Amino acid sequence: MNMERQPVIIEPAARVPLRIAVVGTGLLGERHARFWGQQDDVELVGIVDLDLGRATSAAERLTTNFRIPRPPVFRSLETLLTATGADGVSVATPDFAHRDPVVQALDAGLHVLVEKPLAMTTADAFVMTDAARRAGRWLMVNHSMRWIPRYRAIHDAIRNGEWGQMVVAHSAKSDVIHVPTEMLRWASRTSAAYFLTAHDLDLVRWFAGDRIVRVFAQGARGVLDRRGIDAYDAIQTSVTFANGSIASFEASWIHPNTYPSFTDDYMHVICEQGVAYLDRGREGSEVFETDRVRHPKHSTVYEQDGRIYGSFRHSLEHFTRCIRTGTEPLTSARRVTGVVTALEAIHRSLETGLPETIDDQLAD
Ligand SMILES: NC(=O)c1ccc[n+]([C@@H]2O[C@H](COP(=O)([O-])OP(=O)(O)OC[C@H]3O[C@@H](n4cnc5c(N)ncnc54)[C@H](O)[C@@H]3O)[C@@H](O)[C@H]2O)c1
Repeated sequence: MNMERQPVIIEPAARVPLRIAVVGTGLLGERHARFWGQQDDVELVGIVDLDLGRATSAAERLTTNFRIPRPPVFRSLETLLTATGADGVSVATPDFAHRDPVVQALDAGLHVLVEKPLAMTTADAFVMTDAARRAGRWLMVNHSMRWIPRYRAIHDAIRNGEWGQMVVAHSAKSDVIHVPTEMLRWASRTSAAYFLTAHDLDLVRWFAGDRIVRVFAQGARGVLDRRGIDAYDAIQTSVTFANGSIASFEASWIHPNTYPSFTDDYMHVICEQGVAYLDRGREGSEVFETDRVRHPKHSTVYEQDGRIYGSFRHSLEHFTRCIRTGTEPLTSARRVTGVVTALEAIHRSLETGLPETIDDQLAD
């Protein structure tokens, strides 16, 4: 008699795929579409862009490069909503164009994942959070850095009392000049703070666990102005939290294109009983090739076996998990509206040259 135990076969629970669409098929939207198209438990039901040609070529690349079934392409979100019966949508339009597609999708009963920053004004953020509340649907912001393990570890050490309270944090984030001059067609309609500081403001506010009450910002101009782009080259911000902790943020986007990665990125966080220094520029790896040096990144987005990994993946998976389980997203719009309030105050302070007192409406 064969006494060997037979392996237990665990049948995966039958899952009905979530039907997800994507609005805005630029750099980020195409990445969202590719990710959704490669998930077993998601059906990519459509992509939409004001520029139909952009959406059409994105659809072609998804099929040719990644063998994703060609998603239907739409010029307007309205048509997509009628045609597809989607459960959720990723919105990856430019920073200044998040509100309308987000509200339209929520009003149609969809869950929404929107790229960061949620909005450029607190008024817009409120319109969106109200729409989510009315619809009883999740509105999550893709603050994907929260899924990078080293940041999560800092947050957990503070929250479980091991490190005490955050005392001071500093971050510097710099993009190569390719970003505002070539990659973004709308650099003068956003800023280095909306585009870059948004990430670190969210992280540091999460570490501090308290409201931002004061913001003071200074800006430097010249390089981009001379190229005909109406934007600050660099913005430096000082922030005070209600519990007395402080932080400073530096964002610039004029690094020479020879810099070995798109973004140079550094942060330190000093707490009562713990300190972390985080060099995200190099991530400990430098690669020398015959004609260039690279600092490959393995925390936010990287590829393996033709698939996307890194914090971007974890953030998008979190969105679908929240839809399936009815759990509020870690970065729900309600929880990160204060980031928008602080970003808006940074730009008021740049205008007036004065500190701005704010109440960032921290939500649990
Ligand atoms: N999470 C991150 O790390 C990260 C990185 C880069 C950019 N972003 C954010 O992602 C968003 C998109 O950035 P991008 O670099 O992909 O921009 P992009 O300019 O490459 O793409 C935006 C696309 O949206 C389309 N569009 C504009 N308004 C629209 C509308 N109302 N309906 C449908 N389509 C519309 C445009 O035609 C364009 O194709 C921005 O908010 C940006 O800040 C996030």
